[in-house]
Amino acid sequence: MIPIQMVDLKRQYHKIKKEVDEAVLNVIESTAFINGKPVQEFANNLSAYLGVKHVIPCANGTDALQIAMMALDLQPGDEVITPSFTFIATTEVIALLRLTPVFVDVDPKTFCMDPSALEKAITPKTKAIVPVHLYGHSAPLDELMAIAKKHNLVVIEDNAQAIGGDYLSKSGKNKTGTIGHVGTTSFFPSKNLGAYGDAGAIFTNDDALADKMKMVANHGQRKRYYYEIVGCNSRLDTIQAAVLNIKLKHLDEYVKARQAVADFYDKAFANNPKITTPFRASYCSHVFHQYTLVLNDVKCFSWRT
Ligand SMILES: Cc1ncc(COP(=O)(O)O)c(C=O)c1O
Repeated sequence: MIPIQMVDLKRQYHKIKKEVDEAVLNVIESTAFINGKPVQEFANNLSAYLGVKHVIPCANGTDALQIAMMALDLQPGDEVITPSFTFIATTEVIALLRLTPVFVDVDPKTFCMDPSALEKAITPKTKAIVPVHLYGHSAPLDELMAIAKKHNLVVIEDNAQAIGGDYLSKSGKNKTGTIGHVGTTSFFPSKNLGAYGDAGAIFTNDDALADKMKMVANHGQRKRYYYEIVGCNSRLDTIQAAVLNIKLKHLDEYVKARQAVADFYDKAFANNPKITTPFRASYCSHVFHQYTLVLNDVKCFSWRT
């Protein structure tokens, strides 16, 4: 019997082992562990893949959110609207920067931010919204962007779980994470594009914002030892960039494999009245970072009795 892995990283590695081993050894041989050539190469390759002007690599997906919020000059007390159902990182950075997280419900079908709930949560203090493309399914960006535009809000797409996904709007097909003012992602090993350790990136088409985010991620300096603003130390390791450069070439294939498994499960559960299989809106391609079932007729219970 073969145990079923959530993500079989070993098998994935063995398929690309020769290339990965060579790339990692090259970095070790070069000793350019910090800001070596593969880092900029990866930024360029990812920017071409996503069709976005700027990719700023950083240390992880949580930092990516923090750097974006720091660069946007959000002030303590400003309200940032986020879904009540997401991974902790989305909310954690809002609180860390002394901003005020305001939770809105998700649509139970997509598990993503519900536009009607968003509109109701907006106050004069609201400055930004953080839609999360949870489990690999895009939030309804057309509607969210329209609301954001109406209220002059910045949109930070948390794309940690949906890299490789397409969003179809009236204006055409774009990659998720590139539609809002800024997008962030995580390359945590189990993600659709996973590094061999922690890693992340930020994307934007806005030149000035990209410049500021690069500074924030690099101790607030543009020129070495000239610290213009308060920043942090969040770099993508060269070894991780070397691995990601190879894995990026396989991202579409990894996504297709996840979608094929999801199709298989959809069919297997189709006639089971106790299970609702994942919803797939026509406006996006679900990239199935997770295949999440809803168990019908399960009574809610409390941990405390
Ligand atoms: C939705 C979401 N946002 C942010 C993050 C944070 O990414 P990282 O673990 O790379 O810091 C994750 C990671 O799982 C995530 O799922």
